[in-house]
Amino acid sequence: MEKKDTKKSRYAKLETSQISYLGTRNKTYCQKYSIMDFIGRTKLKDSTKILELFGGIGITSFFIMKSITPSKHTILEIHDDCIERLNERYPNSEILKEDAFTFDRMEEYDYIFIDAALFGQGRLDKFKPILDRIAKCKAEVIITDLGFWKFSFVKKEKWAVEVPIYFAKWKEIFKTFNLNITDAFYTHDFAILCLDRDSTKYTTPVNVVCWEKETSEWRVFLEERKGAFFNGVQEK
Ligand SMILES: C[S@@+](CC[C@H](N)C(=O)[O-])C[C@H]1O[C@@H](n2cnc3c(N)ncnc32)[C@H](O)[C@@H]1O
Repeated sequence: MEKKDTKKSRYAKLETSQISYLGTRNKTYCQKYSIMDFIGRTKLKDSTKILELFGGIGITSFFIMKSITPSKHTILEIHDDCIERLNERYPNSEILKEDAFTFDRMEEYDYIFIDAALFGQGRLDKFKPILDRIAKCKAEVIITDLGFWKFSFVKKEKWAVEVPIYFAKWKEIFKTFNLNITDAFYTHDFAILCLDRDSTKYTTPVNVVCWEKETSEWRVFLEERKGAFFNGVQEK
């Protein structure tokens, strides 16, 4: 039977290496990477230049590269254990041990992925330095929003009204960073937002999609964790 994620294990601190909590993820990741897979297939095009600010172990990278061959692909990560895995898996990408909050080459890219472990409306102050720099460049953006999890406290009957209001608020917030939300894919506890630069669409409602599909393809990273990460010692 599918093991459910628990609230306790679902959210990590931003600074925590993805490797340390990868094994606690299950349904959430099946949904998250199904959305990333969809975005890779429907939004991205070959030869785009892609920047991933919080690279982790590179699962989002996997779904990007499954669909397209970027002409430039840069991944930022701060932990050596993740960086080692990224270098092994993506030898043609530029893997940098660099802080996403101070990286200043954003204008080179067509797409920027922000998949931080605590991004949400309540944490905007923390991420403002990144958004201020993104505001000045041309890139489209994909952001994982974990603030959406608060909807688990709102009665499902109210979601039809409340969820569009929530994303309309995001639309107003991102306008201040010269970004227009086009799509919001949400599950019971997170959302993934797609943003472009089309200011003529600032008044167009966000395409809000409740996401039900799942993929278990990301689990190949769990298998690697069992073997190579721990020198062949199998986890119990
Ligand atoms: C949610 S995980 C990323 C998952 C990844 N995008 C994926 O799909 O596999 C967040 C990662 O950001 C890294 N991180 C935290 N703070 C960072 C920073 N300031 N700059 C770059 N990476 C950071 C953490 O080490 C962690 O591995």
